[in-house]
Amino acid sequence: MSNPMETAFGKTPLLPAEAYTSQDWFDREQRDLFSTVWQFAGFEKDVSEPGDYFTVQVGLHPVFVVRGDDHRLRAFHNICRHRGTQLLRATGQSSTGIVCPYHNWTYSINGELISVPQREVFASVDLDAVGLHRASVETWKGMVFVHSDPEPESGLMTWLASFPDHFGPHEPANLVEVDPIIHEWKANWKIVVENYIDGYHLFHLHAATLDMYDHARAESGFRGPHFAFYEPPVDDMRSWLASNRSYILDDVGEKDWGAFVHMLFPATGLTGLEMSFSVFQIIPLGPALTRIHIRNLTNEKNRSAARWEAGLSRLGGWFSKSQGADDPLASGDFMEEDRYACEQQQRAMQSPLFGVGATSDGYEDGVLGFQRNVAKHLGEEV
Ligand code: FES
Ligand SMILES: [Fe+2]
Repeated sequence: MSNPMETAFGKTPLLPAEAYTSQDWFDREQRDLFSTVWQFAGFEKDVSEPGDYFTVQVGLHPVFVVRGDDHRLRAFHNICRHRGTQLLRATGQSSTGIVCPYHNWTYSINGELISVPQREVFASVDLDAVGLHRASVETWKGMVFVHSDPEPESGLMTWLASFPDHFGPHEPANLVEVDPIIHEWKANWKIVVENYIDGYHLFHLHAATLDMYDHARAESGFRGPHFAFYEPPVDDMRSWLASNRSYILDDVGEKDWGAFVHMLFPATGLTGLEMSFSVFQIIPLGPALTRIHIRNLTNEKNRSAARWEAGLSRLGGWFSKSQGADDPLASGDFMEEDRYACEQQQRAMQSPLFGVGATSDGYEDGVLGFQRNVAKHLGEEV
């Protein structure tokens, strides 16, 4: 019997164009995928004191994470138990309690309902019975992950499977944040993820911007649903590193020089380089609109703007600022190159002639594996 994945052109992808363009697919992904898995939400340092909180959207669920009086992190659904109003916005500090902006019902930072204004008109309400709905929170290497379910099927470490063995030497908990960046691209979130894990385009789209790493010697593979990737520096870069060791993070020994570029399923990129560790939060906003929130960490020494920029000018076509060219392909900024490619691919998907002719052996395995994992969560035949 012929393999449906083999065509005259070779392997074809699994997901149809409408998976990238239709509201129906988008809604199903929010409900059946993003609402059901662990996702990166922030760093432990974002919520270091009792009452510090941040909010995060977990599929259909608005959630917040708050540090309690006992210094433990807790996650709750960001929904008032009275009539459902969102309780907290963005990030902040609320050690005296969480007050709903609508009618001032007030909750403790441990989630209990502690006061209802004009209590007499709610005589039958038992305060003890209407605390906030709990969600789950766990941490790993200074990163905070949340799950919308208070009793998820698996804990965070089970979800991460063997990925931690391939993560690399970086210790995000030892680092400090510098220069966060937010992009919005006119492309489906899966195009953005697929671009992130596509080893083939590194040689071509980024020929002039990511030439410090040796793509032909990349090693990659799935660890559970997560995609782990590492590539060493080219010789030229290795000699530059050897004579500029002051930029290199203490945790990154010489044998680990190179680029660790992982994708935690479904949509969190983790990139560890010689002088930085970055999280790419790929956030679906609509079928053809995606926010990318990049949080960059480095050590105290590299934190000054001057050192960060100086280091990146050699270490990071990765993050170098656009050089002002109108043409994104001539910008010298690898993110602009990626944005251009992703947005053009999204546009092409509107054409009835759109189709993927073939995918390479090896370099695009990540793309196929990712699509298979998405399909599985949505109950699609693969
Ligand atoms: S909706 Fe929150 S107090 Fe009414
Ligand atoms: Fe890229």
